[in-house]
Amino acid sequence: MCGIVGYIGYRDAWNVLINGLKRLEYRGYDSAGIAIVNNTCSIYKCKGKVTDLERYIAGNNVSGTIGMGHTRWATHGEPNDVNAHPHKSYHGKFILIHNGIIENYAKLKEKLTSSGIKFQSETDSEVLVNFIEYIYEKGNINAENAVRLALSKVIGAYGLVIACTDEPDKLIAARNGSPLVIGVGNKEYFLASDATPIIEYTKSVIYLNDNDVAVISKDGLVLKTLKNDQQIPRIHQLDLDIGEIDKGGYKHFMLKEIFEQPRSILDTFRGRVSTDIKSLHLGGLFNVMDRLIGARRIIIIGCGTSWHAGLVGEYLFEDLARISVEVEYASEFRYRNPIITPDDVVIAISQSGETADTLAAVKLAKKSKALVLGICNVVGSSIPRETDAGVYTHAGPEIGVASTKAFTAQVTVLAMMAMLIGRMKNVLSEKKYKSYIKSLTEIPGKIEKILAYDNEFKKIANLYKLANNFLYLGRGYLFPVALEGALKLKEISYIHAEGYPAAEMKHGPIALIDHKMPVVVLATKDSSYEKIVSNIQEVKARNGIVIALVTEGESTITNMADHVLEIPVTDNIFTPLLAVVPLQLLSYHIAIMRGCNVDQPRNLAKSVTVE
Ligand code: AGP
Ligand code: GLU
Repeated sequence: MCGIVGYIGYRDAWNVLINGLKRLEYRGYDSAGIAIVNNTCSIYKCKGKVTDLERYIAGNNVSGTIGMGHTRWATHGEPNDVNAHPHKSYHGKFILIHNGIIENYAKLKEKLTSSGIKFQSETDSEVLVNFIEYIYEKGNINAENAVRLALSKVIGAYGLVIACTDEPDKLIAARNGSPLVIGVGNKEYFLASDATPIIEYTKSVIYLNDNDVAVISKDGLVLKTLKNDQQIPRIHQLDLDIGEIDKGGYKHFMLKEIFEQPRSILDTFRGRVSTDIKSLHLGGLFNVMDRLIGARRIIIIGCGTSWHAGLVGEYLFEDLARISVEVEYASEFRYRNPIITPDDVVIAISQSGETADTLAAVKLAKKSKALVLGICNVVGSSIPRETDAGVYTHAGPEIGVASTKAFTAQVTVLAMMAMLIGRMKNVLSEKKYKSYIKSLTEIPGKIEKILAYDNEFKKIANLYKLANNFLYLGRGYLFPVALEGALKLKEISYIHAEGYPAAEMKHGPIALIDHKMPVVVLATKDSSYEKIVSNIQEVKARNGIVIALVTEGESTITNMADHVLEIPVTDNIFTPLLAVVPLQLLSYHIAIMRGCNVDQPRNLAKSVTVE
């Protein structure tokens, strides 16, 4: 999610905050705001960039030495002035900025609304600030205890800075799941999502842990847990430079985003898997479930990596929900005069939500009265505004041009949709449904295990960084991953790479195989395992180099292949989420070794908003 800054001390808070927000711009966002807290509180916020905020505020008196600032990456409520942070509570006593997702916001909002509390925005964050004031007024307790009590009832991820106008000389910070750092100065404190806005003032920082609550005044800081146990703050000395902090300590956004995938997949299913891990809830589809269950056909449209995610969706929907699926390149679909009927469901997949071909295909589908859904990452972007309903991927901003965490987030959403529809059509058994949900929640941990082998992938990259061609082969759920792996390599290393269904080799491509051709074979233990073993033998018989991606514990292929990349065991339907990660890292390392610009590859743009 996005960016938080806070300040309490002797300086002009406004300058510290606005410069801090600029330092966090790299994190990508859709709106920004600042609050200066004196005995009253002045809030300035608007849709757009930090420079738009500066223009919006110009001429106002913004003096004060305590304040907070926020750059929003919308999850609940589209990007606009009202949904921007900071949010003020209904009686104006509390001001809050929030990074993260409050999963049980709907239940809390219902309770507060029934008590007569009115809301200004659509956000989950405003629910939280109102809940804090509700507890503060009901319990007749101080601000710190009201915050702690409220947070003990909250489910979800948060990084928070909170002020109370009854206690205007302090700030309260709390963290659970979304990062928050406190910079310790001389009679001044700085708060931020990472050290970037802090490092120019102080190198002494405290990293808040989950369930930490800090109460900060000019004279000192008290660190406690949600349970009110006092803690001794551990002060670290920063040794990073600004450039490295921008990317969270990673050399490139692409690498950061690959390593974010355990967290981004968790954010994708956060609030959508029940706490007992026995059911799924996709709120964005609630009003269209009947049409989904009754769909005669699903048409998935997208471009590039999103099209590859759609191909995984084809296997998922046909396998789990028994609905016929077509996957179309949006650019072809829009000009093909396709046959679309009101019984069809069209699903548009797009990270940016702005891809021109996909948006045009959506508009075409809308004319046919089909149900048109979106699976997008940018809340409030053009495609979600055009579709009838949809599911946001909540992967957070994806800055690297080569799509990585968006792909795994898209596949996660498609899997949840297919499981939910399959269960509601009773073509997926309750037992299997629950088993898949449990497996899904284990995926982040399994990706962490794969990421720990990054050095192995780097060694293999070094052996083949000078190859002129690569082949990627897969079957079933892993065929689309073969295509995605090939796209990753070609778009950032400029090496020609092709993905094929493994069985397709004998219909032509096998003529390409020689001792100079690395062939990545996705060969996990699934129903076509024996077949893929034969494909590996075919490649080896022609002196091809085989880099096999296998299920950990594999033995047969280990003795055949030149190199083996292992992934943990999981259900076949989730293998794309694991298998793609080594391919992302292999491509990344080869591209770096070839001196390529990984985050901005030549000729490419992050969002292709032109035809
Ligand atoms: C993938 O790495 C590329 N960046 C590109 O193929 C991308 O997936 C495609 O342009 C679609 O973008 P979208 O998901 O934002 O619609
Ligand atoms: N969920 C909150 C919102 O949609 C915070 C999003 C963020 O982390 O920027 O406003």
